[in-house]
Amino acid sequence: MRKKIVVANWKMNKTVHEAVSFANEINKYQDFRCDVALCAPFVALSELRNVLDKRFHVGAQNIYFEEAGAYTGEISATMIKKFCRFVIVGHSERRQIFKEDDQVVNKKAKIALKHGITPIVCIGETLQERESGKTSEVVQRQILESLKDIDVTQIIMAYEPVWAIGTGRNATPEQAEEIHALIRRLIGSEKTRILYGGSVKPENAKGLMQQKNIDGALVGGASLDVKSFIGICQNA
Ligand code: PGA
Repeated sequence: MRKKIVVANWKMNKTVHEAVSFANEINKYQDFRCDVALCAPFVALSELRNVLDKRFHVGAQNIYFEEAGAYTGEISATMIKKFCRFVIVGHSERRQIFKEDDQVVNKKAKIALKHGITPIVCIGETLQERESGKTSEVVQRQILESLKDIDVTQIIMAYEPVWAIGTGRNATPEQAEEIHALIRRLIGSEKTRILYGGSVKPENAKGLMQQKNIDGALVGGASLDVKSFIGICQNA
């Protein structure tokens, strides 16, 4: 039985002060049956880990794949491992805006694992790819390349159809389950948790997470407000 996990992806939102207020609020809740993780901006990680109850996990939203050196503006696994249990790699915004490809995602996942941080590896098709019937092909390629030489039992996967991210238009539970089942077949692991991401809200969380191969959610917009995030956690 895979334990559900709800992961907040705050993206480029929340000051350290706001992150701490969120932590103080969520600390009051005892009744989650799922794992909960907050992926915060780098500058908030240390303080968040101090304030957040130990029942909850902290994660980063990105790392660089080199150990150290002349990489202006980058953050290494060594720098964050004291605070972070997880790191998101290959989010579609990183892929699209910052031009990260599957090879980069693969290197980032590997350096995270090397330092004992669990990577949350994101994949998903664009609207154009879906409409031209290429979803399975894209998902297959992303899995093959971004998970090359990686022990899939040591990671978390996230399926995030790009057309559902930040659009308010979530995949239906059936649409999502179809791809989650495909991902599970492709990675060949019953143990690996596969999260769904893309316009998850308290109202649609339950239906999604009741699906056999949906083991949790990666939540953007609805994770910024503590009440709606808690609503999702309670539905997991
Ligand atoms: P959203 O974002 O929940 O705002 O759609 C999800 C994500 O990008 O991880």
